[in-house]
Amino acid sequence: MKVTVLGAAGGIGQALSLLLKTQLPAGSELSLYDVAPVVPGVAVDLSHIPTAVSVNGYGKEDLDSALAGSDVVLIPAGMPRKPGMDRADLFAVNAGIIKTLAEGIVKNCPKALVGVITNPVNGTVPIVAEVFKKAGTYEANRVFGVTTLDVIRSEAFVAELKGLDVATTKVPVIGGHSGTTILPLLSQVEGVAFTDEEVAALTPRIQNAGTEVVNAKAGGGSATLSMGAAAARFCMSLIKGLQGEANVIDYAYVEGNTGDAQYFAQPVRLGKNGVEEYLPYGELSAFEQKAKNDMLATLNKDIQEGVDFINQ
Ligand code: NAI
Repeated sequence: MKVTVLGAAGGIGQALSLLLKTQLPAGSELSLYDVAPVVPGVAVDLSHIPTAVSVNGYGKEDLDSALAGSDVVLIPAGMPRKPGMDRADLFAVNAGIIKTLAEGIVKNCPKALVGVITNPVNGTVPIVAEVFKKAGTYEANRVFGVTTLDVIRSEAFVAELKGLDVATTKVPVIGGHSGTTILPLLSQVEGVAFTDEEVAALTPRIQNAGTEVVNAKAGGGSATLSMGAAAARFCMSLIKGLQGEANVIDYAYVEGNTGDAQYFAQPVRLGKNGVEEYLPYGELSAFEQKAKNDMLATLNKDIQEGVDFINQ
């Protein structure tokens, strides 16, 4: 397996690369690309960890070499939020970065599975898809917005609130990846019931958890360590699928089949071609149904912004 991290010298990129160096299957290659001059040093640093995963660092001019032959490409390149910003404020800077990187994927590894971490995910995933469509290489089953951080935050908060074993706590999260578009399905958590007050408090806490980190870091960036862990977990799901493991199911923001919006986070079964099967998200409570209806206009606007960036 060749796994490439674009933006590997950043806060998420370094945490993610560290975890991949210790978790990827033996014999894998970890390819690290960034425009920041420190990236070869990050690769040398990681190469001193004794695992059977080779690491190579590529600087600004070497995007083609970094990407050539990749099976999986993860993209945490671009600007994070500062206090007072929402994810949509990042679009102006990050849209162009994502476009350039997507063009590099078209040229060097059009069959790779691509996980987009760069915000605003609601709009950057459509940008990647539109670049691939223009090039004639788009396959919806290979392009993912990484929403795993919403899932792991939900697991952590629910387990803490209800005194559950966090290792076995599962919380579905659907929709998009910003504010109210993030929709945790607390009604589907097995073995516990939530009061209306708990749902009304926990839902916004999950939706605003990123802002909790941004404010706590006081200008020093957004979630990097938890996001690194989330992206590594999602990458390992992709790898298990590629290796033919049965029943690998995860949540991601995809051009799927829920009918809610063109792109929507839903459960998917992963395999050798990325998504093997789009799975239904099941029944929603009245609260969740209303929250979904109320957020679709925002999600659709975010998606359209990404589509228009490439086509106008
Ligand atoms: P950071 O500023 O620490 O790192 C970003 C890295 O991207 C830097 O090393 C920078 O040199 C690099 N970069 C910039 N332009 C590039 C280009 N054209 N090609 C390659 N690399 C480039 O930022 P951090 O904290 O790692 O966040 C990265 C992104 O991830 C942000 O957009 C942030 O909003 C997003 N994010 C997404 C989350 C999610 O749940 N999907 C959660 C948290 C952050």
